[in-house]
Amino acid sequence: MEALILLSFNIKLKNCIFAENLIKYTMNTNRTFTMIKPDAVANGHIGSILNDITSAGFKIIALKYTKLTAETAGEFYAVHKARPFYADLVNFMSSGPIVAAILEKDNAIEVFRALIGATNPAEAAEGTIRQKYAESIAANAVHGSDSDENAAIEGDFFFTATERF
Ligand code: CMP
Repeated sequence: MEALILLSFNIKLKNCIFAENLIKYTMNTNRTFTMIKPDAVANGHIGSILNDITSAGFKIIALKYTKLTAETAGEFYAVHKARPFYADLVNFMSSGPIVAAILEKDNAIEVFRALIGATNPAEAAEGTIRQKYAESIAANAVHGSDSDENAAIEGDFFFTATERF
């Protein structure tokens, strides 16, 4: 009887771990999405920023050097449509080439947001990417996803399944 109870407990535990991993995999909790923005690209910081990212232990799953149009920038930042800075944001993000990337690491969203620092570079901690390379709150060098859900949406915006490794 005891053995049966133990066996049943073991199966439940295994199922639980399996379910947890399945949710983790489908929710991509270990992935984030980033863009190196037009200011950082124009100022020659692509190499340094990618070096900071990989030195922090992020694996590059997908990478693309491209340029947004006003239309695609507007679509990407549609969540900010009602904000007073939306038009400037769309203008700026379509003003020059960007680098888009999907990154992987445990706890990717949180760790990456710590690596890039506060949205406003004047408030970004010493040594963060925005503190080192950003010019202003609008031209703030890099984008980082704010949630697992948005990381998946933003990654899908730029990359097909065959562009991820
Ligand atoms: P990002 O993380 O890419 O997401 C939205 C962007 O809007 C943000 O970085 C900033 O570059 C920009 N942004 C946020 N607040 C302001 C603001 N007050 N003025 C101008 N741009 C802003």
